[in-house]
Amino acid sequence: MKILVTGGLGFIGSHTVVELQNEGFDVVVIDDLSNSSIEVLSGIEAITGKKPDFEQIDLRDKTAVQDFFEKYSDVSGIIHFAASKAVGESVENPLLYYENNIGSLVYLLQGLQAKPESHFIFSSSCTVYGQAEKMPITESAPIQAAMSPYGNTKQIGEEIIQDVAKVTGINSILLRYFNPVGAHESVNIGELPKGTPQNLVPFITQTAIGLREQLSVFGSDYPTPDGTCIRDYIHVVDLAKAHVTALKRLINKENKDKVEIFNLGTGKGSSVLEVINAFEKVSGQKLNYKIVDKRPGDITEAYADTERANNVLGWKAELSLEEALASAWKWEQKIRS
Ligand SMILES: NC(=O)c1ccc[n+]([C@@H]2O[C@H](COP(=O)([O-])OP(=O)(O)OC[C@H]3O[C@@H](n4cnc5c(N)ncnc54)[C@H](O)[C@@H]3O)[C@@H](O)[C@H]2O)c1
Repeated sequence: MKILVTGGLGFIGSHTVVELQNEGFDVVVIDDLSNSSIEVLSGIEAITGKKPDFEQIDLRDKTAVQDFFEKYSDVSGIIHFAASKAVGESVENPLLYYENNIGSLVYLLQGLQAKPESHFIFSSSCTVYGQAEKMPITESAPIQAAMSPYGNTKQIGEEIIQDVAKVTGINSILLRYFNPVGAHESVNIGELPKGTPQNLVPFITQTAIGLREQLSVFGSDYPTPDGTCIRDYIHVVDLAKAHVTALKRLINKENKDKVEIFNLGTGKGSSVLEVINAFEKVSGQKLNYKIVDKRPGDITEAYADTERANNVLGWKAELSLEEALASAWKWEQKIRS
């Protein structure tokens, strides 16, 4: 059985390709390299001993996607990571986000729908919950109006998949990630943010290595114990493994509904200052940071209720924040050496 991983050279995609190949899956990757590098293929090979098949395709190109499904008629499952993901950029250029994140999804589902039975795993996000009223956040927490076009593409994406499931043989799992961090322990693959990092951990490691002068901590008067925002940081390798577990669930027909939803987090919230302290401890580096004004649009706290993922999906995050930060730091040192 061949599995298509879109965005398979990106941060989460590359770690997932590794876990899929480790479990014996035959993988073909589509990536347009808009936010990744072709060298990631060698990183995957260094870990697994095998390069996945690779097609450099822009998923916004409908004909190219159709040709792909003709060439790879044995693809019966897709893990769909490819998307644009910068929240700020999505506010500046919403149509780019709707075209890329929605257009690509539609073309992929069109490619799958002809098959009598197929599997689809979608990268969703905890952003769909906005500032949830209750912590930890369960999958039944209400979806809130999206705060950015990026967030909206995840909500619309989920709705499209729900609609399509009703009339096709496509079984889907929507995975709502909390905050993925870290790198593979071999440091053959990791996060490669282009330009200024949007996320805390790559900003921390780039500051520690001297690429950024200072880390800004946005706000210190949130209603949290130390006044900084709280998030649920999940090691990317744990996250990658959850995709394999979800795929097997669909293949083995263990899913109870045609579309199932799972939160993927650790269940533990960490504040920005806690992450900084943990980083300083594992790296031995003193971090140059400064508390600045709050950023508009930031929510106070978000961490996952993991009961459903643990008990229904049968997956649990195993790696700690410290392990994630240590691997991210090792990775940063490697790519800058
Ligand atoms: N990283 C996070 O914090 C986070 C959190 C929640 C959800 N997600 C979602 O998870 C998925 C993967 O995120 P990531 O952090 O690995 O991002 P990433 O940018 O590292 O990976 C995405 C990959 O998709 C490719 N891509 C983008 N548009 C494409 C197109 N039109 N055709 C072909 N390839 C294309 C990029 O080149 C990149 O390699 C995304 O859908 C993202 O929205 C990420």
